[in-house]
Amino acid sequence: MNSSESALAGSPGALRTNLDHRAGGGPRDDSLVVVANRLPVRRVRRKSGTVWETSPGGLVSALVPTLERRRVTWVGWAGLKSRRTPPFRHDGIDNVPVPLSGDDVEAYYEGFSNRVLWPLFHGALRAPELRRSWWEAYRSINVRFAEAAAAAAPRGGAAWIHDYHLMLVPALLRERRPDLRIGFFLHIPFPPEELFARLPWRRELLAGLLGADVVGLQTRRDEQNLRALLEGTEGGGADRRAPRVETFPISVDFERWERAARSEKVRRRSAALRRRLGTSKTILLGVDRLDYTKGIDARLRAFQRLLREGAIAAEEAVLVQAAVPSREGVTEYVEQRRVVERLAGELNGEFGEIGRAVVHSMHRNFGFDELVALYLAADVLLVTPLRDGMNLVAKEYVASRVDERGVLVLSEFAGAAAELTDAMLVNPFDPEGLAARIADAVRAPDAASSARMRALRRVVRERDVFRWADTFLGRLAAAGGDGARRRSRRAASAETGDAAEG
Ligand code: F6P
Repeated sequence: MNSSESALAGSPGALRTNLDHRAGGGPRDDSLVVVANRLPVRRVRRKSGTVWETSPGGLVSALVPTLERRRVTWVGWAGLKSRRTPPFRHDGIDNVPVPLSGDDVEAYYEGFSNRVLWPLFHGALRAPELRRSWWEAYRSINVRFAEAAAAAAPRGGAAWIHDYHLMLVPALLRERRPDLRIGFFLHIPFPPEELFARLPWRRELLAGLLGADVVGLQTRRDEQNLRALLEGTEGGGADRRAPRVETFPISVDFERWERAARSEKVRRRSAALRRRLGTSKTILLGVDRLDYTKGIDARLRAFQRLLREGAIAAEEAVLVQAAVPSREGVTEYVEQRRVVERLAGELNGEFGEIGRAVVHSMHRNFGFDELVALYLAADVLLVTPLRDGMNLVAKEYVASRVDERGVLVLSEFAGAAAELTDAMLVNPFDPEGLAARIADAVRAPDAASSARMRALRRVVRERDVFRWADTFLGRLAAAGGDGARRRSRRAASAETGDAAEG
């Protein structure tokens, strides 16, 4: 989500020391190999030429701070098509780029990952397009990632694989490197059985996950959905390896947001924003990747309903919608952008005056300080996804509200709703109910809002992203021990001719 320009300090040479005692030789190593679709930085084309910037999305913004005190090699795509980039070191992380051609991006990333798995795992909000050629590409790119990870991991080390793009990698990596402890974390929801069953390749995907020692999910509901499948016939029966399946709700670096919110620079910026928007007005804010799962259109329609009904006056409130460009090669995203822009235009056409918009809709990347200033300026944050793995924007808002003010309106369909029970919970599928709750948020008395915000801050402070990473990696260390014991028992029983343990 946060995007900032970054110059790369490293060179391929910087990686070499870490690569020397790889596969086969050398002592056991406690360093970590992260495997994710994107590297923490990506190459993008700008008018000025090709530049590196922080990769978009919650995965990178959450994971990076937790890696600071670890020795990490990160295997992932560097952005742009078909470009071979040598390994490089940046911000203390050894990056191993996996090249993707234009066809790979189209079939593996835009196709299978984002037009099949993404919509299906988000409750089939759009119909998944089940193309065989996309599946083939997904499989072969997963092999490519597994091979890169196998070559990068030190003997006896740990690999942490992330997200739906790489669900086959745990088993593929296990085949190549049985010495590793392997963890997998899914950042998006895991769907119920009747949706997952639509996939002609469901068995292969589950078998992929079974290669992991630990599989982590965002919520109990996701965990139950996966368990139901693993315990059924799709899971492969009783003699399969059983990964540890557990809920680990991802979070934010609470102190970083809090520190920024207290800084003079951000406070000044936030006050200036408020002045420009109208000091006496209620400021409503939405911050999202521009994605059809986020319910941006639902919230704009709810605001339109309130203005039309006169429940909110145009002079009284203003809605700021900060939308970060995302997956612009995918039709459904292009369509969603059109819908959002049309609605914002309609609202301003109907209720705006010269010099007084009722909606400010922006479609670009936002810097960290700019986001904190927006969060601090907003009286109400609208987080209204139709389905969301977690939603870190909700937690960022809470962490930024050092003044203990502000109202969080949060969809029941975001993973975050399971923890942030003191938010004002809403059902984005219910247009009238959503509008009514937004009106309640605008009118919420200060004392009640502060009490809610204090409670929310306690939760996010205590369950920050460091706790998430430490808990996951702690489980991986323990489960890896069990796995290693199981594997050596299996080897021993194979020698004596006993039946191998499952
Ligand atoms: O959480 C889902 C996710 O796909 C992450 O893997 C990623 O950080 C984010 O959304 C951004 O998406 P993309 O990598 O497709 O730009």
